[in-house]
Amino acid sequence: MYTDFLSLADLTTDEILELLELADSLKAGLKAGKREAPLAGQTLAMIFEKPSLRTRVTFETGMYQLGGHALLLEMVTPRLGERESIPDVARNLARWVDGIMARTYSHDAVLQLARHAQVPVINALTDRLHPCQILADAQALREHKGDFQNLKLAFVGDGNNVCASWFNFAARLPLNVTLVCPPGYELEPAIAEFARREARGEVKITHDLEEGLVGADAVYTDVWASMGQENESADRAKVFAPYQVNARIMQLAKPGAVFMHCLPAHRGGEVTDDVMDGPQSIVLDQAENRLHAQKAVMLTLMRKDASGLNRKQKLVACG
Ligand code: CP
Ligand code: NVA
Repeated sequence: MYTDFLSLADLTTDEILELLELADSLKAGLKAGKREAPLAGQTLAMIFEKPSLRTRVTFETGMYQLGGHALLLEMVTPRLGERESIPDVARNLARWVDGIMARTYSHDAVLQLARHAQVPVINALTDRLHPCQILADAQALREHKGDFQNLKLAFVGDGNNVCASWFNFAARLPLNVTLVCPPGYELEPAIAEFARREARGEVKITHDLEEGLVGADAVYTDVWASMGQENESADRAKVFAPYQVNARIMQLAKPGAVFMHCLPAHRGGEVTDDVMDGPQSIVLDQAENRLHAQKAVMLTLMRKDASGLNRKQKLVACG
């Protein structure tokens, strides 16, 4: 049983499916005007070392809708761990708040928070992974294309944190995932290897656009230079130019393929306006689902039982 939400690889197939079911029901409930407060009186601390629009707004709004409160910690300068150690930050926060959400550069920073805080920690993006994004995306993909079985998602671009979380997802659910990238921008080998070993569907890495996109039900892309790689932007723009998702590239996929992007997008860079704004694009459904999917994660991890403990506190209490 997971007590933090750090990587989709930490969850079982059933646990991911349960989160998706809960996200669907929270979405339907919200649209039907249902208002409940299962996290009343609870506070989520939000740590951001990097900028955000979607993550910041959806976690704060989500906590509010669940009856709780979210608290923003401005941590951009200095980075987490510079003013005081990460274990000290974790142990202090756990005395006041009921959950911690963190967006950091170093993945190890989030792991350390989770290790030292006796409250649940949620990974809201690190250089390595972005599991909240892929949970919301999976909810959107299922809404548009049905069950993952026999679906193919082609991730066109950098083998980055978002791509890595898709590979983790493919290790748990029967979705076929192919990364189509320029040579030298493949996925972190350990994550690719893990996905290959565990995959229920097919996972592939190719440099060839036609090979990668054939039969794709979803075409996904992300920025060519992630947060923290800004000084590589100009070089990367040259290398990735042939991999821009435009109308010609979309035609290499199945006719009804959806276009996906985690956002923010660099229009004219990794994607053209006509694709972003075209009929195949589901980017705003993905963005909307960040709210519902993360509410499902918070509810699962932070809800307290009759003794007033959440699942992590209960585990710690039981030794
Ligand atoms: N997709 C995503 O995480 O968006 P933000 O960086 O705006 O939070
Ligand atoms: N790969 C991007 C995702 C932004 C949501 C980044 O890390 O900047």
